This record gives sequence, structure tokens and C-alpha cells, in this order.
Amino acid sequence: MGDMLVKLWELPPLAPVLDATAAQGVVVRRALAPEKPVVLDWMRMHFPAWTAEVDAAFARLPVACFVAVRDGELLGFACHDAIAPDFFGPTAVLASARGQGLGRALALAAMHALEAQGYAYAIVGGVGPVAYYEKAFGAIAIPGSTPGIYDGMLRKLSG
Ligand SMILES: CC(C)(COP(=O)(O)OP(=O)(O)OC[C@H]1O[C@@H](n2cnc3c(N)ncnc32)[C@H](O)[C@@H]1OP(=O)(O)O)[C@@H](O)C(=O)NCCC(=O)NCCS
Repeated sequence: MGDMLVKLWELPPLAPVLDATAAQGVVVRRALAPEKPVVLDWMRMHFPAWTAEVDAAFARLPVACFVAVRDGELLGFACHDAIAPDFFGPTAVLASARGQGLGRALALAAMHALEAQGYAYAIVGGVGPVAYYEKAFGAIAIPGSTPGIYDGMLRKLSG
């Protein structure tokens, strides 16, 4: 669960990726503030551990969260600047919608947003699927970044 670094100046262009998802009937776009209650309810249902970070992303303007939507149904999300400036994540796609390029489109949209803010690199925080970030973004692991900023973080007690 270390952090990874992505070179933002080498990002592939966003438009063809958004066109490809649109051709599948999925819109990938920045979330709107009025969508916050809907997105947070969806988070609690599907990815509860990341609800607080998505809440933080909605506290920014423009909202630092991108969503993938098909026919009014939320399929996935990707945030930036949610735990620290220049951090990418959290992100997830519903299991039923994976493998269709949505995760990559969402991440690319968020990383282009970071580049537009002036950052040269993005930090992917506390990575789970290392191979995904290596393959999709040429990300490299940051040595010694485990547990990084998450060291000693208070966690909800289970049970
Ligand atoms: C990681 C995740 C967002 C990927 O979403 P997705 O929509 O399935 O990804 P895509 O379809 O855009 O895949 C993009 C590429 O990465 C590859 N890929 C996807 N998941 C991968 C994984 N876990 N490991 C390695 N490669 C992966 C795909 O094969 C695809 O390659 P291709 O372009 O050659 O076909 C999704 O699996 C998920 O929600 N996982 C659970 C939450 C999670 O782990 N979030 C990340 C926390 S850091």
C-alpha cells in the first residue's frame, strides 16, 4: 500500500478516451456540488471506506471528483486533492462495470485536472492495484512510502 508517481507531462490526451466511453453510452465528467448527497449515499453502499475522502473532494470548487454515468446510473468515480494536494484517489468502478475502460478514463480526467492546476507529477496514494497504475499510466512506486501519510491514521472500529 505504498504511493506511486505519475508523470503528468506524459499523459495521453483525454478527448479520445472520453469519446470512447461516450460511444459506450457512458459520460465521464466532473461531479457537480448538488450531486454530493447522491454520490455519498452511493459511496456508503459500495465503497464505504472512501466516503470521507469523496466528501472532502466535494468540499472543493471546482469539485475534485469525476464520475462515470450511464443513463443516470453512477458507475464509478475518481477524486484528486482529497487527502493531500496533488494526490490522486480514491477511485473505483462498480464490479459489474469494470474492464470497459472506465477506470482509466476517470483517472485520466482527474490527472489532467491536476496537470491543469500546475503539477508536474501526480501522487497516487496508498495504491492497491500496482500493476494497473504501472500499465495504464506508467506509474512508478515511491520507495519508502509505506505507510507514508497514513501512518497512525485512526480507523473505524469494526463490530
Ligand atoms: C482499479 C479499477 C478502478 C480499474 O477500473 P476498470 O474500469 O476495470 O479499469 P479499465 O477497464 O479502465 O482498465 C484499464 C487497463 O488496466 C488494466 N487493469 C484493470 N485493472 C487491473 C488490475 N487490477 N491490475 C492490472 N491491470 C489492470 C485493464 O486490463 C486495462 O488494460 P488495457 O487497456 O490493456 O485493456 C477497478 O478495478 C476497481 O474499482 N478496483 C477496486 C477499487 C480499487 O482498487 N481502486 C484503486 C485504489 S488505489
